[in-house]
Amino acid sequence: MYTLITGGTVVNATGTGLADVLVEDETIVAVLEPGSAVLGETFLAGVDRRIDATGKYVIPGGIDAHTHMEMPFGGSFASDSFETGTRAAAWGGTTTIIDFSVQYAGQDVLTQFAAWHEKAAGKCAVDYAFHQIIGGVDDVSLAAMDTLIDEGVSSFKLFMAYKGVFLSDDGQIVQAMQRVSNNGGLLMMHAENGSVIDLLQQQALQRGDTDPIHHGLTRPWQTEEEATYRAIRLAELTGAPLYVVHVSAKQAAQRIAEARDTGQNVFGETCPQYLWLSLEEQLGAPGFEGSKWVCSTPLRSRADGHQEHMWRSLRTNDLQLVSTDHCPFCMKGQKEMGVGDFTKIPNGIGSVEHRLDLIYQGVVTGKISLERWVEICCTTPARMFGLYGTKGVIQPGADADVVVYDPAGHTSISVESHHMNLDYSAWEGFEVDGHVDVVLSRGKVLIEGGEYHGRPGHGRYVKRGLSQYLI
Ligand code: URP
Ligand code: ZN
Ligand code: ZN
Ligand code: ZN
Repeated sequence: MYTLITGGTVVNATGTGLADVLVEDETIVAVLEPGSAVLGETFLAGVDRRIDATGKYVIPGGIDAHTHMEMPFGGSFASDSFETGTRAAAWGGTTTIIDFSVQYAGQDVLTQFAAWHEKAAGKCAVDYAFHQIIGGVDDVSLAAMDTLIDEGVSSFKLFMAYKGVFLSDDGQIVQAMQRVSNNGGLLMMHAENGSVIDLLQQQALQRGDTDPIHHGLTRPWQTEEEATYRAIRLAELTGAPLYVVHVSAKQAAQRIAEARDTGQNVFGETCPQYLWLSLEEQLGAPGFEGSKWVCSTPLRSRADGHQEHMWRSLRTNDLQLVSTDHCPFCMKGQKEMGVGDFTKIPNGIGSVEHRLDLIYQGVVTGKISLERWVEICCTTPARMFGLYGTKGVIQPGADADVVVYDPAGHTSISVESHHMNLDYSAWEGFEVDGHVDVVLSRGKVLIEGGEYHGRPGHGRYVKRGLSQYLI
């Protein structure tokens, strides 16, 4: 089965040019001069499907390296299942997600990992992989980290916040870091000072400050910066490569940049919400409205320039990639658990469908180049997490995960039209330039002509290798 994508502008992280892309079954087999002579009459007759990409970009399928489908958290479950969440991802041009298997303290890591396989198997519309959350560092979970590397899980997330739920103390963090510095893995860190946040939250509630904006005000930038710095120092001590998730404070990004300047293996991701949304405008919306944007780390003040700093950090490679941290909770029955007490609002925002479009607005507004868009959304996630070569690039031998993106198209984001299992949109009313027109996952058309052609179970579990991004 041959598919030929003609007339498009192929955009890789390394460059852009007019080219036709030939796909055989699940794999890209050639990137050809447009209308190339090798495609003579006889060969063309053998092409089963042609996709006209004239005037459009042909990019590698998006890789969202941070999602939480069905995550049990904050007394509830993230509202997207692997089925609904990966279908929404496909609509938005994301053809691989890296989700998190979750171990809470006291649970067995490998049992949890098996349970997460069970949840995802046969459900996903696009390919998927896992990181492992280690909520309880002990001898058994440390040993499991070695086993998981052989299972294709080469990255482990620890938390410096959420005491009694996920928080690891500094000694536990050092133990896990020592482990990855020996087994070749990558340590992912939720960097917020949990004890200080817990205190500020209790003090706020005692004062009667119960509205959603206090979620942000009790997680000031110092709590993110301090934890980020501590994680960097502990990583330096142990020689562990460190990946800081969901960076939102400019001071935290500056710490990451300083560490990178010394040659340390420290990396950072940010998320669309930290690039476009703010504490004042969204989290500070009247009444309980702001709960829609309760996530951790929190949205930051625009007056303090955090958003522009995140863009700048992406431009300069002080931050390496953009993931969504997709962790949706509905207003009804979920977010509303926190009416009268912001600490009870489940933390998370749903954006898995919109990442490519939202970051493309950085190209439209001159904040990043076209190639950088592809790099931070598709290529670096593959390299960072051991998928590059088969994923993250348009080249012969790679999986035919391909998006035809129409720069002249337009996307209106709304709960009325999105495909996530979520009863509101954190991006309601966003009118964005560009449109995901066609999505191929391993050669199979998932989206074309405004219709979904995928199915649960098309997506396969992908075993990841070690990071291909380390110094
Ligand atoms: O608010 C967030 N980020 N929810 C998801 C869990 C996490 O910490 O990534
Ligand atoms: Zn986190
Ligand atoms: Zn997360
Ligand atoms: Zn279109």
